[in-house]
Amino acid sequence: MTRRSVVIGAGHYLPKRIVENAEFEQTLDTTDEWIRSRSGIERRHFAAEGETTSHMATKAAQAALDMAGYAADDVDAIVVATSTPDLTFPSAATMVQAQLGMTKGFAFDVQAVCAGFVYALSNANALIASGQADRVLVIGAETFSRIMDWEDRSTCVLFGDGAGALLLEATPSEGTNADRGILATDLNSDGRHKDLLYVDGGVSTGTTGYLRMQGNQVFRHAVEKLASTANTALGRADLTSDDVDWIVPHQANIRIIQGTAKKMGLPMDRVVVTVQDHGNTSAASIPLALSVANARGQIKQGDLVVTEAIGGGLAWGAVVLRW
Ligand code: ACO
Repeated sequence: MTRRSVVIGAGHYLPKRIVENAEFEQTLDTTDEWIRSRSGIERRHFAAEGETTSHMATKAAQAALDMAGYAADDVDAIVVATSTPDLTFPSAATMVQAQLGMTKGFAFDVQAVCAGFVYALSNANALIASGQADRVLVIGAETFSRIMDWEDRSTCVLFGDGAGALLLEATPSEGTNADRGILATDLNSDGRHKDLLYVDGGVSTGTTGYLRMQGNQVFRHAVEKLASTANTALGRADLTSDDVDWIVPHQANIRIIQGTAKKMGLPMDRVVVTVQDHGNTSAASIPLALSVANARGQIKQGDLVVTEAIGGGLAWGAVVLRW
């Protein structure tokens, strides 16, 4: 028998304010047409003043708990993937723990930028597999609007705010790839590429800083590394892309999403796409897409799902799970 991490709840939260591409035409030398055709993004949500990553994470987590029918104190651990925590410390995860009213267990953040959610899922799965936790909330939450340089048209039109959460539960299983739950993961990073995508502030500068990105360089790495990590994770579960029901990719750019699907030999009707409505919400994009697809009835129990992401570091990875 194997202890599998099975998804028993999914939830998401998007801030109320929706900003259409056309709004940027008023302040920047850009067009709706450029943003749409280069990225696939049509609109994004921005957090209200005072609305933070932990607030959004808590709302997404509560929705996941509600779907599963559990209370916060039924959870053993909270893992929050974020690069935009409310404060340098304590972790956003401990803030979520307090806001949920959870008085036991443990909580910590994972920081792998846009790959954060696959890193968090992989770590949560290890906690469950090793018997250290039976139920883990895995959350991706970001307020990238706080680290945008609003004069840099090459970055500020691409990102959005939001949060998504999954509740994982340890479930005794056969140990075959027909089991529900997380079947395989693959994580990678290569710090030599740190200058392609970073925030130019932090403890060393005494400022929060702004996101800086050599978008076309990141793009060049993305398709190849994403297809490769997805295929590696599938191989670890003794599966191939023919077995996949849904790819749920990091939602950064429709052209990267299409390129990766093509490289994996998968048609776009097996890919969950939300980038048009959310923009790039970094570590929140995959759990947001999973929760939206689950709510729409796209992803059904028993479906084989592959999530994959790449972001600053560079850091990238994939998770294969049966919903
Ligand atoms: N409006 C109009 N023109 C623009 C804009 C804009 N908003 N932004 C840039 N341009 C211009 C550039 O100045 C450039 O002009 P030039 O040729 O005169 O110099 C031209 O458009 C082309 O720029 P590129 O950067 O080559 O455009 P590209 O086709 O590569 O698209 C994009 C840019 C959308 C950023 C793309 O490269 C991309 O998606 N990259 C990957 C992003 C990503 O996946 N990041 C990883 C995750 S994010 C994370 O980890 C936080």
